Amino acid sequence: MTLRWSEAFLSNNSTLDEEHAELFRLLNRLESLEPPDRNVDPEEFQRNVEELLEYTTQHCSREEQVMSSVRYPGHEAHAVDHTALRASLIVLLQPVHAGRGTISIFSKEARSLFLRHFQKEDLAYLRWVGEQSGQPRAEPGA
Ligand SMILES: [Fe+2]
Repeated sequence: MTLRWSEAFLSNNSTLDEEHAELFRLLNRLESLEPPDRNVDPEEFQRNVEELLEYTTQHCSREEQVMSSVRYPGHEAHAVDHTALRASLIVLLQPVHAGRGTISIFSKEARSLFLRHFQKEDLAYLRWVGEQSGQPRAEPGA
């Protein structure tokens, strides 16, 4: 299943929005590596996973900087969730690397982790930003 970008994820912070869209693209590309009629090149999978992990780390760091700069009260809890998300991705990779799991299972579970984070933690932040400005969607820091 392809992850679809949703307006619900728009923050009006163009950097974060572009990064969220890029995360969706990386997740979809990872999932597309294992169509039913194709064997997966392990090196291609590894390259894609490393790119996803690195981009996730960079994005989480930038998002935390934005939250800190606007004094978001949930900033620390959000950072904890980012750490848990990255740790969960590493745990999900273990069976794949051990030859006991499939890429499609990893992709599906990774997608669920990101969606849970977007829908709970990121949207809570966006709601808070909206409340601060009296508008449903406001530029963080504005
Ligand atoms: Fe986040």
